[in-house]
Amino acid sequence: MTIQQNFPLLPYNTFGLDVKAEYFAEVGSIADLKAGLRSNIRPVFLLGGGSNVLFTQDVRGLVLQNKLRGIRVVREFKKKVWVAVGGGEVWHEFVLWAVSQGYGGVENMSLIPGTVGASPIQNIGAYGVELKDVFVKLQALHLTNLELKTFNHSDCEFGYRDSVFKRAEKGKWCITSVVFSLTKSPHKLNTSYGDISKTLEANGVENPSIADISQAVIQIRTSKLPDPAKIGNCGSFFKNPETERAVLDNILVTHPQAPHYPLPDGRVKIPAGWLIEQCGWKGKRVGNTGCYERQALVLVNHGGATGEEVKNLAQAIIESVEEKFGVRLEAEVNMV
Ligand code: EPU
Repeated sequence: MTIQQNFPLLPYNTFGLDVKAEYFAEVGSIADLKAGLRSNIRPVFLLGGGSNVLFTQDVRGLVLQNKLRGIRVVREFKKKVWVAVGGGEVWHEFVLWAVSQGYGGVENMSLIPGTVGASPIQNIGAYGVELKDVFVKLQALHLTNLELKTFNHSDCEFGYRDSVFKRAEKGKWCITSVVFSLTKSPHKLNTSYGDISKTLEANGVENPSIADISQAVIQIRTSKLPDPAKIGNCGSFFKNPETERAVLDNILVTHPQAPHYPLPDGRVKIPAGWLIEQCGWKGKRVGNTGCYERQALVLVNHGGATGEEVKNLAQAIIESVEEKFGVRLEAEVNMV
């Protein structure tokens, strides 16, 4: 493992921001990781696929990129398997592997950018399935005492795009591997999400396999979300806000068509993309940054944008949504 100085992070963040790390190293093993941490360069910032981070300035200290690889079946049951996956594996490559083996559970989360090690941190999810639905446990290395610890499901305190790693344990761990429980058969197919059933129908699929669902999700995502290789972005920039029912009722007076989803506790979730579009931001360009034309929840870099510019746009969007609807949006992306 070599620690490099004054290292350009441009290829390491999907927003395409041109910032530098004071020190940078790739870690391919737990021994590498420990060696990096023993360098005593602080602070330490753990980077995965760089798909959920907005760098607003050069990064001080040591950036470690998790490159811990490996996918293996660790337990086999009659109807399911447990698969342990290295934290540095690319999430979508793991999904494709699972689908090719006939293991079900992650196909709805096809094409989510980022790494396996980052997936529990914000409990990634798409099309009716969340990481917590297939999660068994994870192993993580503490960044200061260098001890390995196992976090079981309940230890992670998963919520909507949330876990203990975004709260009490934030910035303290490197997730080295994650164990998932995947089905061999029967699979629990999840096609109820509107766009999936529509796409399967359009593809002429009547009895979908997990591969058909993965394919449909890939089609939907590529049609709605910008490809970071072509236009810098971090997927959804904001979380969908969860509000009191009364807030929605107020909105429904002026916007009877407002989409919303009831939550078990009586509150409601309102799609942030809709709120942002209603405020006139969809497709709008501000300097080198802007709001994506096909999904208002996604902020993009049209080329040469700075993190500061994106942050300012996000702030302007938050303020206008709050003023119009009385709902305060929260960023999903991690600002550094
Ligand atoms: N909508 C608009 N205008 C827009 C975008 C959306 O009116 O510009 C409306 C849609 O018409 C629909 C509703 O908002 O009624 C929901 O839209 P969509 O199905 O596209 O999903 P989303 O709520 O905007 C969430 C996730 C995505 C995930 C999709 C599909 C969050 C923050 N985002 O988006 O996740 O792919 O559902 O499950 O929960 C990500 O986290 O990076 C991400 C892409």
